[in-house]
Amino acid sequence: MEQDDTARVTVPKALTEIAARSPRVVVLTGAGMSAESGLATFRDPHAGLWERFSPQALASASAWEDDPELVWAWYLWRFERIEHVAPNAGHVAIARWGRGADVSVVTQNVDDLHERAGSADVVHVHGAIASFRCSVCEAPYAEPIDVPDEPVERLPPPVCRVCGGLVRPGVVWFGEVLPVDAWTRAVALVSEADLVVVVGTSGIVYPAAGLPAIARSEGAVVIEINPDRTDVSDMVHHTWHETAARALPALVGSFLPAG
Ligand code: APR
Repeated sequence: MEQDDTARVTVPKALTEIAARSPRVVVLTGAGMSAESGLATFRDPHAGLWERFSPQALASASAWEDDPELVWAWYLWRFERIEHVAPNAGHVAIARWGRGADVSVVTQNVDDLHERAGSADVVHVHGAIASFRCSVCEAPYAEPIDVPDEPVERLPPPVCRVCGGLVRPGVVWFGEVLPVDAWTRAVALVSEADLVVVVGTSGIVYPAAGLPAIARSEGAVVIEINPDRTDVSDMVHHTWHETAARALPALVGSFLPAG
C-alpha cells in the first residue's frame, strides 16, 4: 500500500495562513521541482547534470555552432527522459491550488510536468525542450522526433522544411537572452503577486534568480521550499527545508478542503 508521505509533514502554521489569504500567487520553480519525478537537477554535488556533463560543451550557442550533432543527441536523451517520467505530488498540488486561486507558475524548467499535472498558466523563462524550431529561420518544427532506442553520443538534427537549417531544441542556452515575452510576463506576475513560492532552485542563474528580490521589493511575501540553503535564502521571508513533493501537497492540503 502506497504510504502517504505528506502525512508526516508538519506545515509551518505561518505558511498555511499566508497561503490561505493570498489571492494572487506565483510559484517560481527550478530543477528541484522535478527531482522527485526522476529528473536530475543541474548542480547536485553527486548526480547533478553539470557534475557529469559540461554546460559549455552541451548547453551553449557556441557548442551548437561547434558540434550540433553532439548537442542534439544530448537534448534528445533529456527529451526522452522527460517523456518517460510523470509529474510528482508537488506538481499536482500546484495545479490543485490553481483551481481554487489565481496561481501562475514561472519555471526555469524545460520539461512539461507542470502542464501535464494540469497547471493552466505556466511561463517558461528558459524555454521548453519540446518546442523544437529551426536554428536559422526560427520556424517551429512540429514533425515527430526520432529518438534512438539507446542514447547515442552524436546524431544529426532534423532539417527545417522552410529553409533547410538545422532544427534545435526550444531551450535557452547559456549566452542566449531569455524569450522577451516570457521574461516580461514573469516580471509582471511576480510584481503583482501577493505571495511568491520559490521551489527547488539554487538561485544562482540570472536573470531568473533575481525574480524573488523583485517580488519582495514590490510587496509580495516570498517563501522558499528547498531541502538546502540557497543563494536566495537570505532574502526570503520564510524558508521551509522540505522537498517539493512532500511540502506542496501538505501546504495546499492545510488550507484547501480535500476533493
Ligand atoms: N525538492 C525541492 N528542491 C530540491 C529537491 C526536491 N526534491 N531536490 C533538490 N532540490 C534543490 C537543490 O537543493 C537545489 O537548490 O533544487 C535546487 C536545484 O538547483 P540547480 O540544480 O542549480 O537547478 P536550477 O536552480 O533550476 O538551475 C537554474 O541553471 O543550468 C541552468 O538552465 C538551467 O534552468 C537551469 C538553471
